[in-house]
This record gives sequence, structure tokens and C-alpha cells, in this order.
Amino acid sequence: MPKRRTAKIIDGKKIAADMRAELKDDIAVLAKRKVTPGLAVVLVGDDPASHVYVRMKDKACQALGIASFQHRLPANTTERRLLNLVKKLNEDKKVHGILVQLPLPKQIDEKKVLNTIDPAKDVDGFHPVNVGKMLVGEPGFLPCTPHGCQQMLLRSGYDPSGKHVVVVGRSNIVGKPVAAILMQKAPGANATVTVCHSRTKNIASITRQADILIAAMGVPEFIKSRMVKEGAIVLDVGVNRVDDKTKKSGYRLVGDVDFKAVSKKAKAISPVPGGVGPMTITMLLKNTVESAKRTVGSKRK
Ligand SMILES: NC(=O)c1ccc[n+]([C@@H]2O[C@H](COP(=O)([O-])OP(=O)(O)OC[C@H]3O[C@@H](n4cnc5c(N)ncnc54)[C@H](OP(=O)(O)O)[C@@H]3O)[C@@H](O)[C@H]2O)c1
Repeated sequence: MPKRRTAKIIDGKKIAADMRAELKDDIAVLAKRKVTPGLAVVLVGDDPASHVYVRMKDKACQALGIASFQHRLPANTTERRLLNLVKKLNEDKKVHGILVQLPLPKQIDEKKVLNTIDPAKDVDGFHPVNVGKMLVGEPGFLPCTPHGCQQMLLRSGYDPSGKHVVVVGRSNIVGKPVAAILMQKAPGANATVTVCHSRTKNIASITRQADILIAAMGVPEFIKSRMVKEGAIVLDVGVNRVDDKTKKSGYRLVGDVDFKAVSKKAKAISPVPGGVGPMTITMLLKNTVESAKRTVGSKRK
């Protein structure tokens, strides 16, 4: 019988708070050079979840001293109006980062909008130029959630170098980029990466090989204890609402991992909420500060 353990909690809130404290120092240095990092957030329509995310980003900016420029547009906004706004923000010297909150209303081509953002201000890291740079290992902007996952591992003392990382999910936002980041020939990476998705056969036989398992599927508690190797490190990216009549809201949030069961087998596990989520916004703030630093660097030349 394998011995029962209780996994160490990989506390995303704490790691995010530490990183934000470091960013405050960077922001103070920039202030001496009369630069305030600025993030423009564009929100189109009335999606309630998007409004919550935008409010959280605004609050996080204010807490650190990052200027937050919010642009709220009605749901019937035309693609042309949105593209014109993005082009204006590309030119605005006070804006170091541009984020267009997704999803966008149906009449707007998401790809066209994201591709119009100046790659030098693409703090979400979704522009094809930054995706390409990530893949070839050149400095650009790394996408926030995958980069946050890497930071969580490193700051918890779990260097992925030489480890078998299994990622479940292959989206452009999480699965593919986290695989690309962790397989780089670079410090903090150098993992052997396997990516699973909905067409993968016998997923459990693959996830059980993982030294580090990253679940990014959007399927509540899909990863069961029998799918996890004893002593594995587990990052749960999933955020899913499940009905819960005991809650005032009528629901609770769960990840893609059966937390209770898996935490008896894993060496370390990130919870939901309080795991990857707080890291995502932190990495956005970090990219915005990084972008502001680059403008100072280019002024010096
Ligand atoms: N914490 C954060 O900050 C944060 C940020 C982003 C996303 N998320 C959460 O992370 C989750 C994933 O997000 P996403 O944007 O990557 O989702 P997505 O675009 O829907 O992609 C889901 C991926 O999971 C795979 N998948 C779905 N069901 C599967 C199954 N039964 N077996 C194996 N693979 C399966 C899909 O495979 P196919 O490609 O074959 O369809 C797809 O590649 C969601 O819960 C989302 O809310 C959290």
C-alpha cells in the first residue's frame, strides 16, 4: 500500500503577492525616471464575467501604481471602431500595455483585433509575433497564464528541468504555450513535455507518467487520483462553476482536478481558487511593467 500523504499547497495567492511586491520596487525605479507604467483595457459588451475580470485588473493596477485606462464600448460596437481604438492606443505614449478582453461580440473578428495590437504592447502575449518569439526562445511577451504556471513551479522549488511534464489541454491560451515554454532549452524549462487533448487515447496511462501534471481542460474534476503518479506535482488551471445549493450564489468554483483525492497522492498541488488564477493577473502586471522598462531602455540609446 502506498503511504498516504497530504500534498503541499502551491499557494498562488502568496506567490502572486511576493511578485507584486517585487514589481512595486520596479515601479518605484521607473517613477524616478518619470515613467508610470500604463495598461489600457478594452471591454466590449456586457458579458458579466468579463466585467468582473476587468474590475479585478483595474484594482490590481491601482494597488501597484500602474495607470489603468479603461475603454468600455457597447455590445453593438463595429469592428472598425474597435480597430481604430486599438490603433490609437498603439500610438499613445502613456500606454505600455493593451489588453482587449475576450470574448468579443460576434460581429467582430477577434483575430483581426488581436493582430492589430502593436506586438511591443501586447502584454497578453497573444500576437503571432510574440507567439513566434516564445516558440524560438526570443524575448517578447509570454502569455500570462502559462508564464504564471512556470513561475509557480520555480518559486515553489520544482524546477521542470529533466522532468516529464504532461499537459492536458492544447488551447492557444494555456495548453500549447505552457508546453512551448517548459520545453525551451533555457533555465527554468528543459522539460520533456507530452500534450494530451480530447482525441488522446487512454489519457490516464499518460497522465500517470507525469512528474509534473498541468490540467487545463475546463472539465470539472476530470483528473482523478488514479490518473496521478504518487508524488507528482499538480497544477490545476481549470476554473469551472458547479451547482452548489449550500452557497448563496448557487455555485462554487472547482478546478479540473479532483483536489481532495489527488492531494492525498500528489507531492504538491495548486488549489482552485487561489492557485493559478491570481498568477495570471500578476503576470499581466509584470508584462506591463516590463514594457514600460523597455521604453526607458530605448530612450537611453
Ligand atoms: N486560472 C486562470 O487564470 C485561467 C486562465 C485561462 C483559462 N483558465 C481555465 O482553464 C481551463 C482551460 O481553458 P482553455 O481556454 O485552455 O480551454 P479550451 O480552449 O476550451 O481548451 C480546452 C482543452 O482541453 C481539451 N479537453 C477538453 N475535454 C477534454 C477531455 N475530456 N479529455 C482530454 N482533453 C480535453 C480540449 O481538447 P481539444 O483541443 O481536442 O478540443 C482543449 O484542448 C478552463 O477551465 C478555463 O476557465 C483559467
